[in-house]
Amino acid sequence: MYKILFVCLGNICRSPSAEGVFKHLVEKNNIANKFFVDSAGTAAYHTGENADHRMRKHALNRGIDLTSRARQIQKADLEEFDFILCMDRSNLNNVKALDLSNQYSKKIKLMTDYAKELSYNEVPDPYYGGSQGFELVLDILEDACNGLLEEILRA
Ligand code: 4NP
Repeated sequence: MYKILFVCLGNICRSPSAEGVFKHLVEKNNIANKFFVDSAGTAAYHTGENADHRMRKHALNRGIDLTSRARQIQKADLEEFDFILCMDRSNLNNVKALDLSNQYSKKIKLMTDYAKELSYNEVPDPYYGGSQGFELVLDILEDACNGLLEEILRA
């Protein structure tokens, strides 16, 4: 069982989408039983909320239903998960700051490290922008989720 945690700021746009895209991918490949997939935010502002309605709409257009509820990342998640994938550098720094003794650094990565087709260094925060931003988030996540799954299956 591989345990994968996707992390962004609010856990209502990017990381719930990453969770949805990755789950969709492993279901399509009939290997969902090998994975436990979750998402969290570095901030607690939106705890308990559904994913953002705009993000849900754009994801649903691609056949992906986002059903997660927002939660804040906790220190215990660093032990629990095998891969902790952060959407941007700020998220990465905040997650690394929870790793006081630096023992989990190998599993804390940027999501875009796994993208193969698109060359972005981060998944840009779509919250204050328009539709294009939500589409870009999904484009990058579909690419990076493919790369992540390939990497895991190769190992
Ligand atoms: P996310 O997007 O980190 O991708 O979930 C955001 C959601 C909410 C806020 C910022 C980014 N906010 O400032 O409330």
